[in-house]
Amino acid sequence: KKPPARKGSMADVPKELLEQLEELESVFHVSADQLKAVTKHFISELNKGLSKEGGNIPMIPGWVVDYPTGKESGDYLAIDLGGTNLRVVLVKLGGDRTFDTTQSKYKIPEGMRTTQDPDELFGFIADSLKEFVEEIFPEGVSKPLPLGFTFSFPASQSKINSGVLQRWTKGFDIPNVEGHDVVPMLQKQLEARKIPINVVALINDTTGTLVASLYTDADAKMGVIFGTGINGAYYENVADIPKLEGKLADDIPKDSPMAINCEYGSFDNEHVVLPRNKYDIKIDEDSPRPGQQAFEKMSSGYYLGELVRLALIDLHDKGFILKGQDMTKLNTPYIMDTSYPARIEEDPFENLEDTDALLQKDLGISTTVQERKLIRRLCELVGIRAARLAVCGIAAIFQKRGYKSGHAACDGSVYKLYPGFQQHAAEALRDIFDWTPAPIDQYPIILSPSEDGSGAGAAIIAAVTEKRLAAGKS
Ligand code: GLC
Repeated sequence: KKPPARKGSMADVPKELLEQLEELESVFHVSADQLKAVTKHFISELNKGLSKEGGNIPMIPGWVVDYPTGKESGDYLAIDLGGTNLRVVLVKLGGDRTFDTTQSKYKIPEGMRTTQDPDELFGFIADSLKEFVEEIFPEGVSKPLPLGFTFSFPASQSKINSGVLQRWTKGFDIPNVEGHDVVPMLQKQLEARKIPINVVALINDTTGTLVASLYTDADAKMGVIFGTGINGAYYENVADIPKLEGKLADDIPKDSPMAINCEYGSFDNEHVVLPRNKYDIKIDEDSPRPGQQAFEKMSSGYYLGELVRLALIDLHDKGFILKGQDMTKLNTPYIMDTSYPARIEEDPFENLEDTDALLQKDLGISTTVQERKLIRRLCELVGIRAARLAVCGIAAIFQKRGYKSGHAACDGSVYKLYPGFQQHAAEALRDIFDWTPAPIDQYPIILSPSEDGSGAGAAIIAAVTEKRLAAGKS
């Protein structure tokens, strides 16, 4: 199957640029056969992750061993750390499968992702919580508020209110956190500020998405994030998780479900099957953690703008585009976040005037119409490849679990905002499973919008946990 048709007319684009474009089309295109091969390898890697020996995909048990009943009720705080912003949410669970949320977003300060002092990060979270709680409860609270901490990184959990960070992902790189439990780090900062909050559960955003979606959608089989990072969670049977043998408390029956945070952004770190090109290799080599998150680096929002930037620099260095332009800004790593390719793809004008203004204003470069057409096509290629690869994780889990149909409940900025993403993602699933073409909401597997996983999901899990503990269970 050929790469998808180009948008808009390319008639006036000179031959030498078209040749470059063809080259880009070939290095970013992923065929149906390649998707099938990726999915096949994915299944065996997921299984390895559950085995005693373990594998490259962490497959972290989330210690959520109940399905929500829908009767959970009460007020819970939730925080969500792991994307561009810190979000603080008050969730009021109604006890009848409904909830209300009130939330605030706090921009993670410049440089915080790579600060040398972890107390700065956890102090920032505590300060934001303090501000939020004082605003919502000006009279104070009678008893400590329970908090669900959505910490969207690979964190090993031996119980639900702990999480030892395995390694930072998505450009975070703060010393002395990897290998440590992050719950006491946050609790310490809360206590230092005398904020009456108890961290009762640490969860991953994917697990939250899964649980929150099950609250309202009985067909939800997975929680999936297509955002700054990429990842999925699903319920596995405890008996099918060999690495848990001997590690389960007696009150968790063998036929119990267990939410698994796959952390499949790390799929294929060995580079067996993913069609990496020279831009992927450069992103990896220049990242704080080379060799890690191979799948995420090709398909998640943190990297899409950077892939476009690297390809533009390459074409400029070879003398094809942006001749004589001041490249200072464009030479800055990660200067183009995902909103750039998204906005460029959305430019409604035949001559791409919005793109022209954007590139002039933010990057200080002037472009010809022909260059902009090439840039737009490049953005499409990067976006389409991300969508196509991204669904292989979903296809693999559905196949592995024997689910012929159902919903993958999705959240994240790329899923919600990136133009065409949902369409391209659904088409890729169709390619993998050889479905007959249909409108995307009629395929057997539907990428459905989720409930707010990192807010409501965290609150529901906190409530379920409190109930288990109150019943004297582990
Ligand atoms: C990264 C994190 C993972 C998270 C995902 C989406 O892959 O490691 O924990 O779920 O991003 O936010």
